[in-house]
Amino acid sequence: MSQNRPTIIAGNWKMYKTMEEAQQFFSELLNLVSGSEHQIRLAVPFTMIHTLAEKAKGTLILIGAQNMSDASEGAFTGEIAGRMLREVGAQFVLLGHSERRHIFGETNAFIQKKVVRALEDGIQPLLCFGETLDQREQNQMEDVLKAQILEGLEGVSGDQLKSMVLAYEPVWAIGTGRTASPEQAQEAHHFCREVIRSQWGDDVADTVPILYGGSVKPENSKALMDQPDLDGVLVGGASLSPETFAKIVNFNHLVKT
Ligand code: PGA
Repeated sequence: MSQNRPTIIAGNWKMYKTMEEAQQFFSELLNLVSGSEHQIRLAVPFTMIHTLAEKAKGTLILIGAQNMSDASEGAFTGEIAGRMLREVGAQFVLLGHSERRHIFGETNAFIQKKVVRALEDGIQPLLCFGETLDQREQNQMEDVLKAQILEGLEGVSGDQLKSMVLAYEPVWAIGTGRTASPEQAQEAHHFCREVIRSQWGDDVADTVPILYGGSVKPENSKALMDQPDLDGVLVGGASLSPETFAKIVNFNHLVKT
């Protein structure tokens, strides 16, 4: 955590929950996190954005989407545009999540188009990247991260990048129960920040928050968050229960037993 950057705790619900479950979750979460000094975010399925964004007005919770189209409008059956998301209250959008890259074949170049579109449409991109286990074992981690960052952010200005959030999510840690150690996470975060520094300069590198994602749980969140280049977490599985997610939000109030 750094003094200069906000601490962000974001949940990614993926394709889970009905509207009824989502509303119940939201009421329970609000009670459990009142008084938190952190920024709390939930990336929820499209159909729940409007209702939850209305409920979130005046609270410390921001509601966002998990994906969007690279086009502003057009004959793209089944797609959703950034301005449609913004209109219903989404304040940010996950882009480049590993499930989009690996299951749906999204490339750095395609993700870059979405980043640029989101910035144009006035919805904050939360760009995710991370290496696979194979890439890590073949010592390709740094090359992969560098390409994901530089290609995914091509044409993005320093000011635009300062308005964004990034997330390092090693693919081998997502949904596997195998978290990166705090040292592994710090090493990767530091590397990513230096890639940004070399391209956009100190001010941007020292301003943009970089979250960690991959099997974050209440038990490991504090040690991760203590790392200097880690500005928060992006939580999948553990964001589905209000109690568990609230424990992560309140990580700095947890008393070790
Ligand atoms: P996980 O997912 O916390 O279940 O590993 C993280 C993510 O996909 O963002």
